[in-house]
Amino acid sequence: MTLAEKIGQLTMITLGDQPTGPIADPVTIAEVHAGRVGSVLNLAGPERIAQVQALARATRLGIPLVFGLDVVHGYRTVFPVPIAEAGAFDPTLWRETARVAAAEARRQGIHLTFAPMLDIARDPRWGRIVEGPGEDPWLAARFAAAKVTGFQGADLAAPDALAATAKHFVAYGAAVAGRDYAGAEVSATSLAEVYLPPFRAAVEAGVAAVMPAFSDIDGVPMTAHAALIAGRLRRVWGFDGVVISDWDAIGQLVAHGVAADLAEAAALALRAGVDIDMVSAAYRRGLPEALDRGLVEPEAIDAAVLRVLALKERLGLFEAEPVAPAGPPPAAEAAGRRALARHAAERSTVLLHDRSSLLPVGSPRRIAVIGPFARAAGGGSDRIGPWAGLGDPDQASSLPAALRARFPDAEIVSRVGVDAHRPGRRDIAGAVAAARQADLVLLCLGEPADWSGEAASRAEPGLPGDQPALAEAIFALERPTVLILTGGRPLIASAVIDRAGTALMAWFGGTEIAPALAGILAGDVPAGGRLPVSWPRSIGQIPIFFAERPSGRPFAPDNPFTSHYLDQPNAPHFPFGHGGTPGAFALSDLAVAPVTVGPAEEIAIAVTVASTAARAEDAVVFVFIQALKALPNRPVLELRAVERVALAPGETRRATLRLPAAALDRLGDGAVPEPGRYAIRVGLDADRSRHLVAAVTLETR
Ligand code: NOJ
Repeated sequence: MTLAEKIGQLTMITLGDQPTGPIADPVTIAEVHAGRVGSVLNLAGPERIAQVQALARATRLGIPLVFGLDVVHGYRTVFPVPIAEAGAFDPTLWRETARVAAAEARRQGIHLTFAPMLDIARDPRWGRIVEGPGEDPWLAARFAAAKVTGFQGADLAAPDALAATAKHFVAYGAAVAGRDYAGAEVSATSLAEVYLPPFRAAVEAGVAAVMPAFSDIDGVPMTAHAALIAGRLRRVWGFDGVVISDWDAIGQLVAHGVAADLAEAAALALRAGVDIDMVSAAYRRGLPEALDRGLVEPEAIDAAVLRVLALKERLGLFEAEPVAPAGPPPAAEAAGRRALARHAAERSTVLLHDRSSLLPVGSPRRIAVIGPFARAAGGGSDRIGPWAGLGDPDQASSLPAALRARFPDAEIVSRVGVDAHRPGRRDIAGAVAAARQADLVLLCLGEPADWSGEAASRAEPGLPGDQPALAEAIFALERPTVLILTGGRPLIASAVIDRAGTALMAWFGGTEIAPALAGILAGDVPAGGRLPVSWPRSIGQIPIFFAERPSGRPFAPDNPFTSHYLDQPNAPHFPFGHGGTPGAFALSDLAVAPVTVGPAEEIAIAVTVASTAARAEDAVVFVFIQALKALPNRPVLELRAVERVALAPGETRRATLRLPAAALDRLGDGAVPEPGRYAIRVGLDADRSRHLVAAVTLETR
């Protein structure tokens, strides 16, 4: 291979109509023809992909291209956004939805997805909280493993497999003040115990690719972070796949202030272990000069090229590929995919409260669907959310249409009332008039899809525009009102949420969210989701998460010199794990055995789960641990197991969860079990005041 051909393999360009970032240095298809491109992102459509692939195969070496796309929560069939799906606490579901997305995309010529996103996020100002599994590293590690196996299957060359990319390595979600692309402030301990473990889980599951974050840690941009990429990821964890830069991130090393020019930027990234340059000109333009200046060794380029070729081999690209990719899967599968999307939407929707016991809603004669998310206001895109692949918003039926199907005898009226983004353009009077005569009002508020995701940080992540005024006017009617929230983050809107009779978080629930909501309202199924993040009551509480470290002065109500706010409680509006029919389940009789364990033994945690629900519903049981003494100390709660326990109405069951003693460890690398006492805390959410507690002692024997 010539140097140009080698650098070509390390070059990823964007083609197609929807670039996913600013293009600093446009590259045309002529570069493919010349054999100077190794991979392409954002090109969609099997014919176009086949045409460009044919150009690559006709070059001197005929090395095929890898086609990548952000297939984040679906390709055509759109599933709930990751933060929503994480709240299903269901690894089988996580795997299945990834499997379907992979099959749909691969059959249309895509080989690689830039997912799963594994950034722990504890700040809902950060718009990308929507793309990840929430605040907890243990949960994120389970999510990582399920998504990687779901996307990739057993064989990357299979016609329904996608190579997965674990991103954004690492601590991107710790962006200062929740502002996207800002640096991360993380301690060595949080890096080890919070931000790195989900990536290690992805590597252990065999993830094909890793993408470094745009952000920096301690002044070292992740794209140039040799200690974490070449060191931790490759040497310590044994990752042998490809590292793909984020969009233009190598070129941006100049703006980061760590490289003087593209040659230095290219050298820093390559030496750190970044194989593929996504759309920056750094490798194409900078690497030859970096070689001349002695900033990189030719062997480093060869090693990166070999990793890219190995990925192509694993994908089966060197086998004779069909002239055109296989095309869409048979129509018979479509119904199954929609059924899965519906199940996922039902399992991801969270019942925040049902203060007025409005669920199920019975047989209302007139239903008023009010608010900017009531129908096609922001387009179906507000149902399928950001990063929706090639999902067709029009495939996602509107809520009024779904209600008409589920409540055929009811009259359904709908009014938007206010704009979803900004003040003005109000028809609150029209909305009020429509709601006045209704015996059920569905108040559909939230944030639009384009206010969530990349570059969508919000200083005030509440209900934009005049939505609070609309809510006020509707509540004044004193009609039975169910608030249905759409959004990609916990929305800080305590007053509105609390005044509703019932409140549901529908997130961006995907193609089937509207029929799922109609079914939940009718009582066909419960809202099965639980919150994978603590839901703050105010911006001042951010960052907020359950795994705090112990304070020397923990809050005590009768002692002012303890850790608290003068003007608000410490507790979030809703804790991590919150959801389900209120009061439907009771836990009792926690028994832990043995109470003294050796490091290789297992702990059996048994608890009685009783349902008082009128319908079949899953209780979601959480097992947390607390190390009572350690140096450095450990969080007051660490999640270690979750189980959905299916219960018939009124049923009581004894559930037993098994925890290896090794699960008492810190999550970081090479942790050894610290002997001593541990509390085992079992509950239906992360509210410590409601936990059943038992103790185990870990011995060193
Ligand atoms: C930038 C985003 O940070 C990343 O997540 C995405 O995969 C790339 N753009 C490609 O669209």
